[in-house]
Amino acid sequence: MAITTCIFDAYGTLFDVAAAARIAAAEQGREEFAAKWSEIAAIWRAKQLQYTWLRAAADTHLDFWRVTQNGLDYALEAASLSDPELRERLLALYWELSAFPEVPDMLSALKAAGLKTGILSNGTPRMLSGAVESAGIGGALDAVLSVEKLGVFKPHPSVYRMVDGHFGVLPKQVLFVSSNGWDASYAAHHGFQTVWVNRANEPMDRLPSDPQHIMQDLTDIPKLAARL
Ligand code: LAC
Repeated sequence: MAITTCIFDAYGTLFDVAAAARIAAAEQGREEFAAKWSEIAAIWRAKQLQYTWLRAAADTHLDFWRVTQNGLDYALEAASLSDPELRERLLALYWELSAFPEVPDMLSALKAAGLKTGILSNGTPRMLSGAVESAGIGGALDAVLSVEKLGVFKPHPSVYRMVDGHFGVLPKQVLFVSSNGWDASYAAHHGFQTVWVNRANEPMDRLPSDPQHIMQDLTDIPKLAARL
């Protein structure tokens, strides 16, 4: 059965999550942060995700914006940085993360091929509309689906089912794309055709299902969608 719908994870897949720390590190007067920004960004992201899994497992949901702040506070403290102005700057930059360079053309090609497109993300609706607007990709997206109305995070099965309900499709008609290995695994487990965008050349996660396709970036998504 042919693919009708192409769904993307947001943070790390369409939007460059390291961009906030990278931009702040290049600003005047931030020498101490600049010396360790990439380590802080990695801890920030790791804690943000761990908190989503723990909160989902323990049924103690908090929205992704607050989880993002909690992850940042942990990372700054771990790096012995106490700088409220830097904290505010990093959080402000998180609302306007840049999209990876290949994203606009890739989405346009999918739309030109007649496919439906969308985002499925842990992000709150406001965070996602901020990022979509600043990347200027809203016109190439048919839907931006947030977990927030479910009150649980990926990889809870109800999250992937939102796509089926919203678009009125079967999982096998969906091409799901994520740079998060665990997200790609559980999307494949749901029954989506799945691409893992492995930008950092990481090993495959050992989880219930493996994604069927692996790419280095998003450039060839339209070609893959056309042949499935
Ligand atoms: C998201 C996170 C997992 O956008 O990247 O859902």
